[in-house]
Amino acid sequence: MSYTDKMLRDDALKGKVIVVTGGGSGLGKAMTKYFLELGAQVAITSRDLDKLKTTAAELESQTGGNCLPLQCDVRHYEEVENMLQETLKVFGKVDVLLNNAAGNFISPTERLSANAFDTVIDIVLKGSKNCTLAFGKHWIDTKQTSATILNIVTTYAWTGSAYVVPSATAKAGVLAMTRSLAVEWAKYGIRSNAIAPGPFPTKGAWDRLLPGDLSEKFDMAKKVPLKRVGDHQELANLAAYLVSDFSSYINGDVITIDGGEWLKGAGQFNLLEAIPEELWDQLEMMIKAKKNK
Ligand code: HXC
Ligand code: NAP
Repeated sequence: MSYTDKMLRDDALKGKVIVVTGGGSGLGKAMTKYFLELGAQVAITSRDLDKLKTTAAELESQTGGNCLPLQCDVRHYEEVENMLQETLKVFGKVDVLLNNAAGNFISPTERLSANAFDTVIDIVLKGSKNCTLAFGKHWIDTKQTSATILNIVTTYAWTGSAYVVPSATAKAGVLAMTRSLAVEWAKYGIRSNAIAPGPFPTKGAWDRLLPGDLSEKFDMAKKVPLKRVGDHQELANLAAYLVSDFSSYINGDVITIDGGEWLKGAGQFNLLEAIPEELWDQLEMMIKAKKNK
């Protein structure tokens, strides 16, 4: 058994209808593929309909599943409402909203125009809010007895991070929304959870966060105690579990999947990792010698 293996049983998502925003590429595509393999019907949405159509056709032929491409810029509430109606028209219902769409790039904050900052906030925070509000209203109005919202955040949603300040600000808001609605909407049978992934290489993220030779200069695997980046299937395994009925009692949580990366940056003495094994004998002797004086 390996972390690249598929975790759940084949019918784990049979009968579920799932909407994945930003499902045409990267992690959204990987999660969609696994949802289809587990028997779900999936609508994938983003701004680029041609890309979505290509992805949907590819995934349908690989999985034999049913994947619906729908154009929708999450920044615009009316487009989100249309996307929801189109999903309902084709699939008859929707059980899961996966807020995965995002925009991000590295920049010193003082170099950002007001519009640049807004653009990231609008995609990540306003976009997740638009989808959550539209889907939540629908579920509550139609008295659907069970539904799930899964939000993809980042570990810097709670630590913050330099050079990606709009993204950190927005993801923190999404995390607050996750926890708030987990309580408020539980009475309607709506669960809200989040996943905070560490580094999972995708073209979308790496082009914008590690452009040029930055990906060689800053080897993300070196920042991770487990010394590797994430594999898309292990994220898909976690997401599938969190949107399945197996996780029915998980509500309001954020599950970190980062090999210990963020904690490595946090622990005050974690830098002692650099001390070679043979030096520890000497250090121990020095410490004990002081104690005896
Ligand atoms: C400074 C920049 C910039 C940059 C864009 N802008 N890129 N400013 N440095 N590198 C400014 C523009 O000049 C403009 O401001 C404003 O931002 C909007 O840019 P547009 O190109 O018009 O916006 P748009 O076409 O809507 O594209 C949005 C985008 C783009 C966010 C800029 O990168 C995008 O489409 N991203 C989607 C995919 C993505 O980001 N994936 C990565 C997710 S990874 P002005 O003032 O000139 O009008 C992630 C977490 C990773 O989220 C964590 C890893 C561990
Ligand atoms: P990605 O492939 O660039 O995915 C982002 C997706 O969002 C794209 O499919 C994009 O599609 C869509 N999108 C962007 N703006 C949109 C808008 N206005 N409306 C609708 N869709 C929009 O990058 P990724 O790495 O897979 O990221 C997926 C998620 O994981 C994001 O939430 C990201 O923050 C999170 N994450 C990633 C990592 C990582 O290491 N990769 C780490 C932590 C968190 P279009 O361009 O076609 O619109």
